[in-house]
Amino acid sequence: MMLKKALLWAQKELIDVVERPRLEAEILIAYLLGCRREELILKEIEDIDFEALKALIDRRKNHEPIEYITNKVSFYDFELFIDKGALIPRPESEILVDKALELIKKHDINKVAEIGIGSGALSIAIAMHSNVTINASDISKEALEIAKRNIEKFSLQNKIKLFHCNLDEKLGEYEFLISNPPYIDPSYPLAKNVKDFEPHTALFAPQKGLKILFDILNLIKEKDIKFVVCEMGYDQKKAIAKKAKELQLDGELKFYKDLAGFDRGFVYKKFQ
Ligand SMILES: C[S@@+](CC[C@H](N)C(=O)[O-])C[C@H]1O[C@@H](n2cnc3c(N)ncnc32)[C@H](O)[C@@H]1O
Repeated sequence: MMLKKALLWAQKELIDVVERPRLEAEILIAYLLGCRREELILKEIEDIDFEALKALIDRRKNHEPIEYITNKVSFYDFELFIDKGALIPRPESEILVDKALELIKKHDINKVAEIGIGSGALSIAIAMHSNVTINASDISKEALEIAKRNIEKFSLQNKIKLFHCNLDEKLGEYEFLISNPPYIDPSYPLAKNVKDFEPHTALFAPQKGLKILFDILNLIKEKDIKFVVCEMGYDQKKAIAKKAKELQLDGELKFYKDLAGFDRGFVYKKFQ
């Protein structure tokens, strides 16, 4: 099939399924041809393998995220490998990275820990833009494999070390903890593309999504952690503030919003 015809066919197939059918048709065809989307224009006479294209379009029509189909996702200022074992990093988590980099520079922080590294997105962005070393955990072996691949892609093996464990159990001493833990209530009606394809260990937590967030607050108390940046759900601010108050944390907890104006995380700083 010729490129022009393939593009029109794919776009039409996706029209009722995705918001930007033309863009996604181009992405999938570029993926099939092993080129960048911008290079499609140079491929005027390329013959497209229709069966292979149909297989990709069928996956997308079944609501599989395009990032899992193409094994690529953009985050911060780079592109990561992604696959079904890890959550697709979300743009709102870039705010967490900015907050973390700000603190690292201001307080001359060297040792960072991440709970739940997933694809590696947060630790990689932070390691690329600062001089810290990071010990990162994940409870999922599949996620750790994906993080390892991404850390090697950017030659960050000297700066980020991976540990298969619960919370920070094997992470040793650190000054600064970052985390984007699973925080969704298991009964929340998630969209099919998320619920059917992304790992449930990355999405859901017991106690209405608050379990790991509370574990992190407990860690702040027990380990007297100096700095924390943590993402959370839009409706969890009250419960987190209440828990922090109960624990009588020896520091200041400030909430931040995402670009859509929803509560999205908190920054904790121990009183000096
Ligand atoms: C929301 S995802 C975040 C992934 C990545 N940091 C990001 O922002 O894209 C949460 C991650 O935490 C991991 N996780 C869940 N429970 C955990 C636990 N008790 N200890 C360590 N990691 C855990 C999941 O496997 C998943 O990779």
